[in-house]
Amino acid sequence: MEQQLNELQSQALEKIAAAADLKELNDIRVAYLGKKGPVTEVLKGMGKLSAEERPKMGALVNVVRETIANAIEEKQTVLEAAAIEQQLALETVDVTLPGSPVKIGAQHPLTRITEEIEDLFIGMGYTVAEGPEVEQDYYNFEALNLPKGHPARDMQDTFYITPELLMRTHTSPVQVRTMQKHGGRGPVKIICPGKVYRRDSDDATHSHQFTQIEGLVVGENIRMSDLKGTLDVFAKKMFGADREIRLRPSFFPFTEPSVEVDVSCMCGGKGCSICKGTGWIEVLGAGMVHPNVLEMAGFDSTKYTGFAFGMGQERIAMLKYGIDDIRHFYTNDLRFLKQFSVHE
Ligand code: PHE
Repeated sequence: MEQQLNELQSQALEKIAAAADLKELNDIRVAYLGKKGPVTEVLKGMGKLSAEERPKMGALVNVVRETIANAIEEKQTVLEAAAIEQQLALETVDVTLPGSPVKIGAQHPLTRITEEIEDLFIGMGYTVAEGPEVEQDYYNFEALNLPKGHPARDMQDTFYITPELLMRTHTSPVQVRTMQKHGGRGPVKIICPGKVYRRDSDDATHSHQFTQIEGLVVGENIRMSDLKGTLDVFAKKMFGADREIRLRPSFFPFTEPSVEVDVSCMCGGKGCSICKGTGWIEVLGAGMVHPNVLEMAGFDSTKYTGFAFGMGQERIAMLKYGIDDIRHFYTNDLRFLKQFSVHE
Protein backbone atom coordinates (compact mmCIF):
# COMPACT_ATOMS: atom_id res chain seq x y z
CA MET A 1 0.00 0.00 0.00
CA GLU A 2 2.85 2.28 0.81
CA GLN A 3 4.35 1.63 -2.55
CA GLN A 4 1.03 2.23 -4.22
CA LEU A 5 0.80 5.60 -2.50
CA ASN A 6 4.33 6.57 -3.47
CA GLU A 7 3.66 5.69 -7.06
CA LEU A 8 0.48 7.70 -6.99
CA GLN A 9 2.34 10.66 -5.62
CA SER A 10 5.15 10.60 -8.17
CA GLN A 11 2.66 10.05 -10.98
CA ALA A 12 0.63 13.05 -9.79
CA LEU A 13 3.69 15.26 -9.37
CA GLU A 14 4.81 14.41 -12.88
CA LYS A 15 1.46 15.34 -14.34
CA ILE A 16 1.36 18.55 -12.30
CA ALA A 17 4.78 19.50 -13.61
CA ALA A 18 3.64 18.86 -17.16
CA ALA A 19 0.31 20.73 -16.85
CA ALA A 20 0.22 23.44 -19.49
CA ASP A 21 -2.71 25.53 -18.29
CA LEU A 22 -5.07 26.12 -15.39
CA LYS A 23 -7.77 23.89 -16.79
CA GLU A 24 -5.45 20.93 -17.08
CA LEU A 25 -4.26 21.56 -13.54
CA ASN A 26 -7.80 21.61 -12.24
CA ASP A 27 -8.51 18.30 -13.98
CA ILE A 28 -5.49 16.84 -12.17
CA ARG A 29 -6.80 18.17 -8.85
CA VAL A 30 -10.19 16.55 -9.39
CA ALA A 31 -8.61 13.29 -10.61
CA TYR A 32 -6.20 12.83 -7.67
CA LEU A 33 -7.81 14.58 -4.75
CA GLY A 34 -11.48 14.30 -5.64
CA LYS A 35 -13.94 12.00 -3.92
CA LYS A 36 -13.61 9.37 -6.61
CA GLY A 37 -9.84 9.81 -6.93
CA PRO A 38 -7.19 7.13 -6.30
CA VAL A 39 -6.18 8.55 -2.92
CA THR A 40 -9.72 8.09 -1.66
CA GLU A 41 -9.65 4.60 -3.12
CA VAL A 42 -6.51 3.81 -1.12
CA LEU A 43 -8.19 5.14 2.03
CA LYS A 44 -11.06 2.80 1.48
CA GLY A 45 -8.65 -0.15 1.69
CA MET A 46 -7.50 0.96 5.15
CA GLY A 47 -10.11 -1.25 6.81
CA LYS A 48 -8.13 -4.30 5.87
CA LEU A 49 -5.03 -3.10 7.68
CA SER A 50 -3.92 -4.07 11.12
CA ALA A 51 -4.47 -1.69 14.02
CA GLU A 52 -0.79 -0.75 14.11
CA GLU A 53 -0.45 -0.14 10.43
CA ARG A 54 -3.58 1.94 10.15
CA PRO A 55 -2.32 5.18 11.80
CA LYS A 56 0.97 4.88 9.90
CA MET A 57 -0.87 4.58 6.61
CA GLY A 58 -3.29 7.30 7.61
CA ALA A 59 -0.40 9.63 8.22
CA LEU A 60 1.20 8.65 4.92
CA VAL A 61 -2.00 9.27 3.00
CA ASN A 62 -2.20 12.72 4.54
CA VAL A 63 1.38 13.46 3.55
CA VAL A 64 0.71 12.32 -0.03
CA ARG A 65 -2.47 14.41 -0.23
CA GLU A 66 -0.68 17.43 1.13
CA THR A 67 2.29 17.00 -1.19
CA ILE A 68 0.03 16.77 -4.18
CA ALA A 69 -2.11 19.70 -2.99
CA ASN A 70 0.97 21.85 -2.38
CA ALA A 71 2.39 20.98 -5.76
CA ILE A 72 -0.91 21.94 -7.37
CA GLU A 73 -1.01 25.22 -5.50
CA GLU A 74 2.53 26.09 -6.48
CA LYS A 75 1.91 25.23 -10.08
CA GLN A 76 -1.29 27.23 -10.00
CA THR A 77 0.59 30.36 -8.91
CA VAL A 78 3.05 29.85 -11.74
CA LEU A 79 0.35 29.27 -14.33
CA GLU A 80 -1.71 32.22 -13.17
CA ALA A 81 1.28 34.52 -13.41
CA ALA A 82 2.01 33.17 -16.90
CA ALA A 83 -1.60 33.75 -17.93
CA ILE A 84 -1.41 37.37 -16.78
CA GLU A 85 1.88 37.83 -18.60
CA GLN A 86 0.35 36.46 -21.75
CA GLN A 87 -2.68 38.69 -21.46
CA LEU A 88 -0.48 41.72 -20.92
CA ALA A 89 1.64 40.83 -23.91
CA LEU A 90 -1.49 40.55 -26.05
CA GLU A 91 -2.83 43.88 -24.90
CA THR A 92 0.37 45.84 -25.18
CA VAL A 93 -0.18 49.22 -26.75
CA ASP A 94 2.76 50.62 -28.63
CA VAL A 95 2.52 54.25 -27.65
CA THR A 96 5.28 55.14 -30.08
CA LEU A 97 3.17 54.13 -33.12
CA PRO A 98 1.99 57.15 -35.09
CA GLY A 99 -1.78 57.72 -34.74
CA SER A 100 -4.14 57.19 -37.65
CA PRO A 101 -4.75 60.61 -39.15
CA VAL A 102 -8.27 62.03 -38.79
CA LYS A 103 -9.48 63.71 -41.95
CA ILE A 104 -10.45 67.29 -41.23
CA GLY A 105 -12.52 69.22 -43.72
CA ALA A 106 -11.46 72.53 -45.18
CA GLN A 107 -13.31 75.78 -44.97
CA HIS A 108 -14.93 76.62 -48.30
CA PRO A 109 -12.89 79.38 -50.00
CA LEU A 110 -15.96 81.65 -50.13
CA THR A 111 -16.57 81.23 -46.39
CA ARG A 112 -12.92 81.97 -45.81
CA ILE A 113 -12.98 85.15 -47.90
CA THR A 114 -16.27 86.26 -46.31
CA GLU A 115 -14.92 85.80 -42.79
CA GLU A 116 -11.66 87.50 -43.67
CA ILE A 117 -13.52 90.54 -45.02
CA GLU A 118 -15.92 90.53 -42.07
CA ASP A 119 -13.01 90.46 -39.61
CA LEU A 120 -11.31 93.33 -41.38
CA PHE A 121 -14.40 95.55 -41.27
CA ILE A 122 -15.42 94.51 -37.76
CA GLY A 123 -11.94 95.69 -36.79
CA MET A 124 -12.83 99.09 -38.26
CA GLY A 125 -16.01 99.34 -36.18
CA TYR A 126 -18.56 97.89 -38.61
CA THR A 127 -21.27 95.43 -37.62
CA VAL A 128 -22.53 92.57 -39.79
CA ALA A 129 -26.14 92.84 -41.00
CA GLU A 130 -28.13 90.16 -42.78
CA GLY A 131 -31.46 90.01 -44.54
CA PRO A 132 -33.78 87.78 -46.59
CA GLU A 133 -32.79 86.24 -49.91
CA VAL A 134 -36.39 86.34 -51.13
CA GLU A 135 -36.91 90.08 -51.16
CA GLN A 136 -39.55 92.66 -51.94
CA ASP A 137 -39.15 94.65 -55.13
CA TYR A 138 -39.33 97.75 -52.94
CA TYR A 139 -36.15 96.97 -50.96
CA ASN A 140 -34.21 95.46 -53.84
CA PHE A 141 -34.95 98.23 -56.35
CA GLU A 142 -37.40 101.02 -55.54
CA ALA A 143 -35.86 102.23 -52.29
CA LEU A 144 -32.50 102.18 -54.08
CA ASN A 145 -33.62 104.82 -56.55
CA LEU A 146 -34.68 102.26 -59.13
CA PRO A 147 -38.40 102.82 -59.72
CA LYS A 148 -40.38 100.34 -61.80
CA GLY A 149 -39.52 100.67 -65.48
CA HIS A 150 -36.14 102.28 -64.79
CA PRO A 151 -33.76 101.14 -67.53
CA ALA A 152 -30.98 100.49 -65.03
CA ARG A 153 -32.98 97.53 -63.70
CA ASP A 154 -31.66 95.72 -66.76
CA MET A 155 -28.18 95.87 -65.21
CA GLN A 156 -29.29 93.13 -62.85
CA ASP A 157 -31.42 90.53 -64.63
CA THR A 158 -33.82 89.29 -62.01
CA PHE A 159 -35.58 86.10 -60.97
CA TYR A 160 -39.11 87.24 -60.11
CA ILE A 161 -41.37 85.10 -57.93
CA THR A 162 -44.36 87.44 -58.18
CA PRO A 163 -44.39 90.99 -59.61
CA GLU A 164 -43.56 92.25 -56.10
CA LEU A 165 -41.34 89.44 -54.84
CA LEU A 166 -37.96 88.41 -56.20
CA MET A 167 -34.65 86.70 -55.43
CA ARG A 168 -32.46 89.59 -54.31
CA THR A 169 -29.96 90.63 -56.97
CA HIS A 170 -27.57 92.24 -54.47
CA THR A 171 -27.33 92.68 -50.70
CA SER A 172 -28.14 96.42 -50.94
CA PRO A 173 -31.71 95.77 -49.69
CA VAL A 174 -30.16 94.87 -46.32
CA GLN A 175 -28.68 98.36 -46.25
CA VAL A 176 -32.10 99.90 -46.86
CA ARG A 177 -33.66 97.78 -44.13
CA THR A 178 -30.90 98.72 -41.70
CA MET A 179 -31.15 102.45 -42.48
CA GLN A 180 -34.92 102.31 -41.92
CA LYS A 181 -34.38 100.76 -38.50
CA HIS A 182 -32.14 103.69 -37.53
CA GLY A 183 -35.10 106.07 -37.75
CA GLY A 184 -33.13 108.81 -39.49
CA ARG A 185 -30.31 108.87 -36.95
CA GLY A 186 -26.69 108.13 -37.78
CA PRO A 187 -24.15 106.80 -37.73
CA VAL A 188 -24.75 103.59 -39.66
CA LYS A 189 -21.73 101.40 -40.25
CA ILE A 190 -22.48 97.94 -41.61
CA ILE A 191 -21.35 95.25 -43.96
CA CYS A 192 -23.89 92.90 -45.52
CA PRO A 193 -22.65 89.50 -46.67
CA GLY A 194 -24.92 86.99 -48.36
CA LYS A 195 -26.11 85.03 -51.38
CA VAL A 196 -27.53 86.88 -54.35
CA TYR A 197 -29.22 85.74 -57.58
CA ARG A 198 -29.20 86.92 -61.17
CA ARG A 199 -30.60 85.50 -64.37
CA ASP A 200 -27.26 84.80 -65.99
CA SER A 201 -26.18 81.83 -68.07
CA ASP A 202 -23.48 80.03 -66.12
CA ASP A 203 -20.02 80.07 -67.62
CA ALA A 204 -16.44 80.54 -66.39
CA THR A 205 -17.14 84.04 -65.07
CA HIS A 206 -20.94 84.08 -64.52
CA SER A 207 -23.13 82.25 -62.07
CA HIS A 208 -26.89 82.63 -61.52
CA GLN A 209 -26.15 82.56 -57.79
CA PHE A 210 -23.12 84.07 -56.13
CA THR A 211 -22.09 85.84 -52.94
CA GLN A 212 -21.64 89.49 -52.17
CA ILE A 213 -20.46 91.73 -49.42
CA GLU A 214 -21.66 95.27 -49.42
CA GLY A 215 -20.69 98.01 -47.01
CA LEU A 216 -22.50 101.16 -45.94
CA VAL A 217 -21.47 104.10 -43.82
CA VAL A 218 -23.90 106.95 -43.13
CA GLY A 219 -22.99 109.84 -40.87
CA GLU A 220 -22.24 113.52 -40.73
CA ASN A 221 -19.35 114.69 -42.90
CA ILE A 222 -18.77 111.34 -44.58
CA ARG A 223 -16.77 112.08 -47.70
CA MET A 224 -15.45 110.37 -50.80
CA SER A 225 -11.97 110.43 -49.26
CA ASP A 226 -13.30 108.26 -46.42
CA LEU A 227 -14.46 105.75 -48.99
CA LYS A 228 -11.12 105.81 -50.76
CA GLY A 229 -9.13 105.39 -47.54
CA THR A 230 -11.36 102.52 -46.41
CA LEU A 231 -11.01 100.67 -49.71
CA ASP A 232 -7.26 101.23 -49.73
CA VAL A 233 -7.00 99.50 -46.34
CA PHE A 234 -9.21 96.71 -47.67
CA ALA A 235 -7.14 96.15 -50.83
CA LYS A 236 -3.84 96.09 -48.95
CA LYS A 237 -5.19 93.63 -46.38
CA MET A 238 -6.73 91.31 -48.97
CA PHE A 239 -4.07 91.37 -51.67
CA GLY A 240 -0.87 92.63 -50.08
CA ALA A 241 0.65 95.82 -48.67
CA ASP A 242 2.19 96.77 -52.01
CA ARG A 243 -1.17 96.96 -53.81
CA GLU A 244 -2.81 100.24 -54.74
CA ILE A 245 -6.32 101.21 -55.76
CA ARG A 246 -7.67 103.57 -58.35
CA LEU A 247 -11.20 104.89 -58.80
CA ARG A 248 -12.83 105.23 -62.20
CA PRO A 249 -16.10 107.10 -62.77
CA SER A 250 -19.05 104.78 -63.23
CA PHE A 251 -22.80 104.66 -62.79
CA PHE A 252 -25.07 103.08 -60.18
CA PRO A 253 -28.58 104.41 -59.59
CA PHE A 254 -28.13 104.31 -55.79
CA THR A 255 -24.84 106.23 -55.61
CA GLU A 256 -23.77 109.63 -56.90
CA PRO A 257 -21.01 109.98 -57.80
CA SER A 258 -20.35 106.31 -58.55
CA VAL A 259 -17.02 104.67 -59.08
CA GLU A 260 -15.54 101.40 -60.22
CA VAL A 261 -12.57 100.40 -58.07
CA ASP A 262 -9.49 98.71 -59.49
CA VAL A 263 -6.63 97.11 -57.58
CA SER A 264 -3.13 97.17 -59.03
CA CYS A 265 -2.22 93.79 -60.49
CA MET A 266 0.21 91.36 -58.90
CA CYS A 267 2.39 91.72 -62.02
CA GLY A 268 3.33 95.14 -60.65
CA GLY A 269 1.95 97.03 -63.64
CA LYS A 270 4.02 95.24 -66.28
CA GLY A 271 0.87 93.72 -67.71
CA CYS A 272 -0.07 90.04 -67.60
CA SER A 273 -2.92 87.74 -68.59
CA ILE A 274 -4.82 88.40 -65.34
CA CYS A 275 -4.97 92.18 -65.83
CA LYS A 276 -5.11 91.73 -69.61
CA GLY A 277 -2.04 93.87 -69.97
CA THR A 278 -3.51 96.91 -68.19
CA GLY A 279 -1.82 96.54 -64.79
CA TRP A 280 -5.20 97.00 -63.03
CA ILE A 281 -7.97 94.61 -61.99
CA GLU A 282 -11.55 95.68 -61.34
CA VAL A 283 -12.74 94.43 -57.95
CA LEU A 284 -15.77 96.39 -56.79
CA GLY A 285 -18.37 99.09 -57.29
CA ALA A 286 -18.84 101.99 -54.90
CA GLY A 287 -19.98 105.56 -54.50
CA MET A 288 -21.57 108.21 -52.32
CA VAL A 289 -25.09 107.21 -51.27
CA HIS A 290 -27.62 109.00 -53.50
CA PRO A 291 -29.61 111.64 -51.59
CA ASN A 292 -32.84 110.01 -52.81
CA VAL A 293 -31.81 106.74 -51.15
CA LEU A 294 -31.04 108.52 -47.87
CA GLU A 295 -34.36 110.40 -47.95
CA MET A 296 -36.41 107.27 -48.77
CA ALA A 297 -34.81 105.52 -45.81
CA GLY A 298 -35.73 108.42 -43.53
CA PHE A 299 -32.42 110.32 -43.37
CA ASP A 300 -32.12 114.08 -43.85
CA SER A 301 -29.81 114.29 -46.87
CA THR A 302 -28.82 117.86 -46.05
CA LYS A 303 -27.38 116.66 -42.73
CA TYR A 304 -26.21 113.14 -43.56
CA THR A 305 -24.00 111.74 -46.26
CA GLY A 306 -22.68 108.26 -46.76
CA PHE A 307 -20.68 105.91 -48.89
CA ALA A 308 -21.41 102.40 -50.06
CA PHE A 309 -19.48 99.68 -51.82
CA GLY A 310 -20.21 96.20 -53.06
CA MET A 311 -18.15 93.25 -54.21
CA GLY A 312 -18.43 89.58 -55.04
CA GLN A 313 -16.44 87.15 -52.90
CA GLU A 314 -16.05 84.86 -55.91
CA ARG A 315 -14.11 87.50 -57.80
CA ILE A 316 -11.95 88.31 -54.78
CA ALA A 317 -11.23 84.60 -54.19
CA MET A 318 -10.48 84.00 -57.89
CA LEU A 319 -7.94 86.83 -57.89
CA LYS A 320 -6.43 85.94 -54.54
CA TYR A 321 -6.09 82.20 -55.14
CA GLY A 322 -5.72 82.15 -58.93
CA ILE A 323 -9.00 80.27 -59.57
CA ASP A 324 -9.89 80.30 -63.26
CA ASP A 325 -13.55 79.21 -63.26
CA ILE A 326 -16.36 80.46 -61.00
CA ARG A 327 -18.09 77.07 -61.29
CA HIS A 328 -15.37 75.48 -59.14
CA PHE A 329 -17.00 77.14 -56.12
CA TYR A 330 -20.28 75.27 -56.56
CA THR A 331 -19.41 71.86 -57.99
CA ASN A 332 -17.84 70.65 -54.73
CA ASP A 333 -14.97 68.74 -56.29
CA LEU A 334 -12.93 67.58 -53.30
CA ARG A 335 -9.67 68.01 -55.20
CA PHE A 336 -10.50 71.73 -55.44
CA LEU A 337 -11.81 72.13 -51.90
CA LYS A 338 -8.92 70.24 -50.27
CA GLN A 339 -6.50 72.88 -51.46
CA PHE A 340 -8.01 75.26 -48.93
CA SER A 341 -7.40 73.00 -45.96
CA VAL A 342 -5.17 74.56 -43.36
CA HIS A 343 -4.45 71.12 -41.86
CA GLU A 344 -2.54 69.40 -44.66
N1 PHE B 1 -25.18 96.77 -55.43
C1 PHE B 1 -24.21 96.88 -56.48
C2 PHE B 1 -24.23 95.64 -57.31
O1 PHE B 1 -24.55 94.58 -56.85
C3 PHE B 1 -22.82 97.07 -55.95
C4 PHE B 1 -22.67 98.41 -55.32
C5 PHE B 1 -22.91 98.57 -53.98
C6 PHE B 1 -22.27 99.49 -56.06
C7 PHE B 1 -22.79 99.80 -53.39
C8 PHE B 1 -22.14 100.74 -55.49
C9 PHE B 1 -22.38 100.87 -54.16
O2 PHE B 1 -23.94 95.71 -58.47
